[in-house]
Amino acid sequence: MIQDYIRGLFPASRRSRFLGALNELSANELYRMTHRDGCSYPALIAEHVDQGDCTMIGEARYAAAPDGQHCEFAISVHEAWRRKSLGTLLVETVSFRARALGLRHLVGDVFRSNEAMIALARKIGFVVLGSAEDARLVKITKDLLLEDSSQVWNERATVLRRCAGGRAGPIAPVLSLQS
Ligand SMILES: CC(C)(COP(=O)(O)OP(=O)(O)OC[C@H]1O[C@@H](n2cnc3c(N)ncnc32)[C@H](O)[C@@H]1OP(=O)(O)O)[C@@H](O)C(=O)NCCC(=O)NCCS
Repeated sequence: MIQDYIRGLFPASRRSRFLGALNELSANELYRMTHRDGCSYPALIAEHVDQGDCTMIGEARYAAAPDGQHCEFAISVHEAWRRKSLGTLLVETVSFRARALGLRHLVGDVFRSNEAMIALARKIGFVVLGSAEDARLVKITKDLLLEDSSQVWNERATVLRRCAGGRAGPIAPVLSLQS
């Protein structure tokens, strides 16, 4: 399911997500998407369920940095499901998990040209800075201590309703949208 989802993304989306050209995941990358590996966690998968049929529509990966302070993440949303707040929901879910792991900052590397991700990040309180390592990239950073968790949960409920066209049930930790 994960490999089909990645293959089905537009090449430009795969490039933005993985910061380089790629057609599909290697066996190692697939393993890392589905297993805990040191400080790296299995991917969060967003799926759409229609009469029992599951389709993967988004994903997020996150890993704790060795400094014990930062959580690095990356996300993607299938082209057909964009601008429905699913990307926001994935980032908020990673944020919640990072806080639960005791991490203070959420950080991601994003192509400077990636207007969608930069706009999403700014909208939910990330700071966007130039990357010292690569001029093509910016670093998006959010201080999780400054976040009010009750507000996050309220926003998440609103976002879930928006993703599901108003038909979402109670908020659950699994990102599964029913038709
Ligand atoms: C970036 C990405 C994850 C956004 O997902 P999404 O589900 O469409 O994002 P959301 O619907 O939560 O958007 C939240 C806000 O971000 C901004 N935004 C999102 N897409 C945008 C776009 N194409 N242009 C301008 N602003 C955009 C808007 O402010 C939007 O709010 P609005 O819809 O109320 O105006 C998606 O475009 C994607 O998968 N891109 C390819 C992979 C990638 O770039 N990953 C980032 C690497 S970490």
